[in-house]
Amino acid sequence: MTAKKDLSNLERREFMKLGAALGAGALLHEAASGNNPDHAATAKEAPVAAAVEKVRVGFVGVGGMGTNHLRNLLHLEGVDIVAVCDIVEEKVTRAQDMVEAAGQPRPVAYTRGELDFMRLCAEEDLTLVYTATPWEWHAQICLAAMTSGKHAVTEVPLAVTLEDCWRLVETSEKYGKYCIMMENCCYGRTEMTVLNMVRQGVLGEIIHGECGYLHDIRDIFLQIAPGREWFQKHALTRNGSLYTTHGLGPVAQCMNINRGDQFDYLVSMSSPSLGLEDYARNKVPEDDPRRSLEFAAGDVNTTLIRTHAGRSIALVYNAHNPRPYTRINLVQGVKGLVEGYPDRVHIEGVSPVHEWEDMDQYWEQYEPTLWRELGRNLTGFGHGGMDYMEDYRLIKCLREGIAPDLDVYDGAAWSCIAPLSEKSVASRSASVEIPDFTRGAWRTRPSLPVPEL
Ligand SMILES: NC(=O)c1ccc[n+]([C@@H]2O[C@H](COP(=O)([O-])OP(=O)(O)OC[C@H]3O[C@@H](n4cnc5c(N)ncnc54)[C@H](O)[C@@H]3O)[C@@H](O)[C@H]2O)c1
Repeated sequence: MTAKKDLSNLERREFMKLGAALGAGALLHEAASGNNPDHAATAKEAPVAAAVEKVRVGFVGVGGMGTNHLRNLLHLEGVDIVAVCDIVEEKVTRAQDMVEAAGQPRPVAYTRGELDFMRLCAEEDLTLVYTATPWEWHAQICLAAMTSGKHAVTEVPLAVTLEDCWRLVETSEKYGKYCIMMENCCYGRTEMTVLNMVRQGVLGEIIHGECGYLHDIRDIFLQIAPGREWFQKHALTRNGSLYTTHGLGPVAQCMNINRGDQFDYLVSMSSPSLGLEDYARNKVPEDDPRRSLEFAAGDVNTTLIRTHAGRSIALVYNAHNPRPYTRINLVQGVKGLVEGYPDRVHIEGVSPVHEWEDMDQYWEQYEPTLWRELGRNLTGFGHGGMDYMEDYRLIKCLREGIAPDLDVYDGAAWSCIAPLSEKSVASRSASVEIPDFTRGAWRTRPSLPVPEL
């Protein structure tokens, strides 16, 4: 069934306003910085939505990651893929074929250009709009979804500017709709096991974390590998910690950010930008225009975040140099620590003095049921199965009428670090205040339990 949803007058007015702004190439401009008095004094969290038997999905952006999510959703019970949108018609056709092959009716196609997601949001009767488009589209698509009465679900990051983070928080509150940034790394086997160890007090009081995104993706930035053409412009024009949420999300959960503690301020510093230019000299012909690209982003950015409780986080970004992959995943407590890549543990009184133990004996005791039961059958699903986990949890929460694991405050807090790091880098690493999107509610919000422990 593809019944059209009738927008209320108020919703329609808001929606038209959004459309006008998008047409002009920019969203409405509101208060831009920090804990600005222009934002409502108190947060009004979107209420827990009633259970739905079928989750009706409109999908926007079916490239690499979008197709991955689509495959997961087609594997889950209780999901109808109602509409698919992409600026590339063949990708929509491929997605429609996938949906039909899974035994569902052919979804409605939206292929009339970059703003066609607005028509999808306005015309379709959906539980949620799920987007896996380039970064710069996430905020607009989520806003269009919520103002037309749908939950918004997006790939990372939630938004690329501080203004859009605020706008999404306030729109979620105003319309009572979820705005969920799908941070798959929060669902990794190690990350969930570590969260469980933290919640059970194995590491003692948490005082420090180290994390990041250190991934040699020079081929993507220089478009030597096909796809993700949109990626390059961020490194050409921005200098900071550009991809924060994979590393920061799981550590922030361990520290109860937005739920007992809160980010307070950061300082950020970038190294010179040499890696991509060096790579281009070695990889592309002499007369290739990629040889003369000048990248703004430093090869290695280090951002230090301090929380209100005094905890510290070192967040590293490096995507421009030869190196093996890591997200670091270090969580230090007063009784011990865990660190990733490779996973290892040191607990005082348990581990040999000054020595690491590997995780093996800890899996037995602390691996959450979700991974024990579901994780064994996820060979072939994206990113070692954690993408499937996050989609599984999203759909389960909506079908059972329970609050999703991730909320708009998480997405905003973890994503705003990128533009704030740029601000710090641009001012000789000056200290920059991190806004409290919960407006004080973090003091009383309960900590997130380990999902389905
Ligand atoms: N969580 C992860 O591990 C992970 C991994 C890869 C990518 N991502 C995220 O997924 C998102 C997409 O990345 P990708 O690698 O799939 O990129 P991609 O380029 O493969 O896919 C993006 C798709 O969006 C489409 N698109 C662009 N503008 C559009 C618009 N206005 N309306 C509709 N469709 C539009 C493109 O045609 C393309 O099909 C990014 O936010 C990225 O950060 C996350």
